[in-house]
Amino acid sequence: MTNTLIPLRNGHREEQPGHLCMSRRQFLLAGGALVTLSALGVSSQAEAAPLHALLAKYPKLKIGRLSALKTGEPLTFAYPYPDVRNILVRLGTRAGGGIGPDQDVVAFNQQCTHMGGPLEGTFKNKYQALGPCPLHLTTFDLTRYGMVISGHGTESLPQILLALEGDDIHAVGVQGLVYGYGAMTAQRA
Ligand code: FES
Repeated sequence: MTNTLIPLRNGHREEQPGHLCMSRRQFLLAGGALVTLSALGVSSQAEAAPLHALLAKYPKLKIGRLSALKTGEPLTFAYPYPDVRNILVRLGTRAGGGIGPDQDVVAFNQQCTHMGGPLEGTFKNKYQALGPCPLHLTTFDLTRYGMVISGHGTESLPQILLALEGDDIHAVGVQGLVYGYGAMTAQRA
């Protein structure tokens, strides 16, 4: 199935990133509290967005080898288009959508779902998270399908679907909508 994506928008305002110094448990609990407050309408940022699980399949692309991946040391790759940058990482912990014998190898887009802020270089192995985004501090949990832990974002980070063939890791699709793109023919999961 062929999919066509349309660039939609760009632009964002800047804020200073926060500084993290807590355990992963504290980190996740703090984020969960923010999400809960938002859901209850306590926070001014609680603009509830509908949750969609958009699933789009694209031509298979080899992006790495399992034996070459080191835990906590991400690789970057472009998929499904040259300007869509993603991260491939072995978390060392079982993760939603993970592949490999320990189901701990995942891949995610690196553009924040809030306003498209750059997430390059923000992977935190200690927390198995991507972020905080340098613009408004959204952070995403890579063990849980890229769900928002904290920050202004409400949509999970698009997850790159992976398939393992022997030692070769292939990207085969995208779950979620990459910021700045509109899916013309994506399937809903
Ligand atoms: S662009 Fe706003 S949190 Fe990333």
